[in-house]
Amino acid sequence: MNFLRNRTDKKNRLLTDKMTNGVRLISAAELKNPVVEQFRTVRTNIDFASVAKGDIKTLLISSSAPSEGKSTINANLAVVYAQQGKKVLLVDADLRRPTVAATFGDNRNTVGLTNYLSDNKKEITDIIKDSGIQNLDIITSGPIPPNPAELLGSGIMTELIDKLKSVYDLVIFDVPPFLWVTDAQVLMSKVDGVAIVVSGGKSKKSDLKRTYEILKLSEVSILGFIYNDKNNKKTGGYGYGYGYNNN
Ligand SMILES: Nc1ncnc2c1ncn2[C@@H]1O[C@H](COP(=O)(O)OP(=O)(O)OP(=O)(O)O)[C@@H](O)[C@H]1O
Ligand SMILES: [Mg+2]
Repeated sequence: MNFLRNRTDKKNRLLTDKMTNGVRLISAAELKNPVVEQFRTVRTNIDFASVAKGDIKTLLISSSAPSEGKSTINANLAVVYAQQGKKVLLVDADLRRPTVAATFGDNRNTVGLTNYLSDNKKEITDIIKDSGIQNLDIITSGPIPPNPAELLGSGIMTELIDKLKSVYDLVIFDVPPFLWVTDAQVLMSKVDGVAIVVSGGKSKKSDLKRTYEILKLSEVSILGFIYNDKNNKKTGGYGYGYGYNNN
């Protein structure tokens, strides 16, 4: 009993910590770190996949279940794309456990995506923020709303994505896991391509199978699978895999 309570306490502490301090930005801090090379490889493979599937301007990266490394990969990938000279925007569309604000040092997160979606007088310039990294802007989540899936599925969200596409070379959306809430599924029909994070020793085969079935039904472009093995010290745990993306 005590053991269970301790485990829950630890989990809650980790979640609070992540939402307060953000995820680790390796690519901004350590240009020569081999892990950065892994993120560049992920970038290159996404670029290759998009050659076959048409221009990818909007990209959503999710996973089947929570805490598999989505936000870490999204933030670092946004940085390596920006370092390549692309004009990049990272949008925190995880309106349940947002991390982008904290990762980029905007600890108040009082204005963001949810403000725009619930107030039709807002302009995109009201919510776009400088990340502090050249070529990279961010839109933080804004205050956590009671109805995330409804907001993300709205017509205003579709219009917003169109506007952002006209300004940026690449827009990356951080979202909750596919199978736990409908948010990612709602949003994926509005983007050009989706990649799935698979966590070494954590992702369940049955969950991955269900996720893949959902993606196939939606007819969204599946760009591939990003293998995140937190325990692999050599690569820092990041890699890119081609799963069943030969559709
Ligand atoms: N390759 C890695 N090596 C070491 N730590 C990692 C790695 N990937 C992720 N982590 C750590 O694992 C935790 C979960 O990562 P992250 O927040 O990116 O996952 P998430 O899938 O976005 O979670 P959530 O479902 O809560 O949004 C974080 O503390 C992060 O620093
Ligand atoms: Mg996350």
